[in-house]
This record gives sequence, structure tokens and C-alpha cells, in this order.
Amino acid sequence: MRKNTEDILMASEILRKASSLLVLTGAGVSAESNIPTFRGDNGLWNKYNPEDLVSVDGFRRNPALVWEWHCSMRKLAMSSNPNAGHFAIAQLEREFFCDGNFLLITQNIDDLHRRAGSENIAEIHGNIFYERCTKCAFRRRSEVIYDDVPRCPQCGSILRPDVVFFGEPLPEMEIAKSFSFAQKTDCILVVGTSGVVYPAAQIPYIVIEHGGKVIEVNKEETPLTKYADVHISGESGTILPEIVKTIR
Ligand code: APR
Ligand code: ZN
Repeated sequence: MRKNTEDILMASEILRKASSLLVLTGAGVSAESNIPTFRGDNGLWNKYNPEDLVSVDGFRRNPALVWEWHCSMRKLAMSSNPNAGHFAIAQLEREFFCDGNFLLITQNIDDLHRRAGSENIAEIHGNIFYERCTKCAFRRRSEVIYDDVPRCPQCGSILRPDVVFFGEPLPEMEIAKSFSFAQKTDCILVVGTSGVVYPAAQIPYIVIEHGGKVIEVNKEETPLTKYADVHISGESGTILPEIVKTIR
């Protein structure tokens, strides 16, 4: 039997026995929707400097450049569609782990999980389709591709993308919800993340500390791999539907 098949069966067995499921995704789950990842071959951070584009100082120095970058991400996300991996995660929530026994934590800002039908989502790095005021509490959903820095309709200050810049704290409610679920769940499925950006990367270790099982789906090995109960190597758009098919 091919190695992957054995691993998929093992993952399905773990999921079948689990009473709740926490899913943690990174850019890899959107790679097959043609949204580039940040690290590894062709990673965005090989071509652009995140310090200029997704940092507080970068925004202070040049808000127009940061908005240009985020509007290009908005355009990309609008022209992309959820892939089979996103739909499989939504199916896990709908068919196997409903009623509060499921939480999806995503580091992605592309909104593809919501478009695929996932409901219980903690967007811990924000969402590219929200923007907020740098001064007052104004916040709105928007799909506008700006050619200049937008201003707040309430106080006239400049608006910023409602995403987490490097060095900023993550949304408190989302993080609190994520960490408390991680302490209670008996299983976490980690998909398409290099596991190097904290505090998101810490979440699987909290599950392990509390006796939960770890299933990792990634094209490569990561720092988490040696702690995972099963690591399935390959593309999430192929592997996740396979896992869902074999849980029944
Ligand atoms: N299927 C599964 N895994 C994949 C696929 C795929 N089709 N394609 C790529 N991967 C894996 C890569 O092997 C890598 O481990 O996805 C991971 C992507 O890693 P990163 O590019 O580092 O993305 P991520 O882990 O989400 O980065 C975390 O860093 O820059 C910040 O805010 C940004 O949320 C992001 C955070
Ligand atoms: Zn304002």
C-alpha cells in the first residue's frame, strides 16, 4: 500500500475517534487557488520585503505602497476560487463536527474559507476585505480596489487594511477563542503552514500538551512534523478530500 494511503487511513481513524476538531490553515491551503504562499520556492517574501508592505513602520512611511500591495491581494483573492481543500474543511465542519465541536483558525486573509462554506472561523491575521480607521472606531467591509489611500467617512483620517501587520498584536477575541479551543480539543488538523510565525505556530503544541492528536498536511516537512501523530505529504487540495472520503 502506498505510504500516503496508509497515512490518510490513519488520519481518518484519528478523526473518526475525535470528539472535536481544531483546524489550523496557512497560505498552503490557498496555493491551489493560485494565491502564492509567502515562503519556499516563489514565495512572496522572496520578491518583496514584508517590512515595507505589512509592517506598522512601512505603513507609516508609505501608506500608498501598503494600500497598493493590499489592493493587489484583494484583486487576486476576488479572481480566485476556493479549491477542493477549502471545501473539504467546510464539509468536516458541516458533516462531522457541528454544534460547537469545530473551530477553523486561519492565518489567511483571502476570505476563501468563508466562500467555501466554513462558518466557525477565527481569522487571526485579519481579512483583506475589511478596512478600518487609523483614528476612530470606523470599520467596513469593502471590495474596492483603490488607486489612492482611502479616508474615513466619519473623521477624515486615513484608513488601513484590517489585517495584522508584523509586530502587531493579533485580534484578542480571536486569539482567546483559539487558545481556549486548543486546550480542550482532542484533535488538530494543521494544513499548509510553515509553522514559523507565532503565536499561530504555538497552537498545535498547546493541543499536544493537553493530550490531543496532531494531523499535518503539507507538501514539505515543517518544525511540527516530528511531533505530529501523522504527517501526510502532498497537496491539500488532493489529500483533504481523500481524508473526508475515508472517514465515513
Ligand atoms: N498543499 C499543502 N501545503 C502546501 C501547498 C499545498 N498545495 N503549497 C504550499 N504548501 C505549504 C508549504 O510547504 C509551506 O509549509 O504551505 C506552507 C506555506 O508557508 P508560508 O508561505 O510560510 O505561509 P504561512 O505558514 O501561512 O505564513 C504564516 O506569515 O507572512 C506571514 O501573515 C503571513 O499568515 C502568514 C504567516
Ligand atoms: Zn475615523
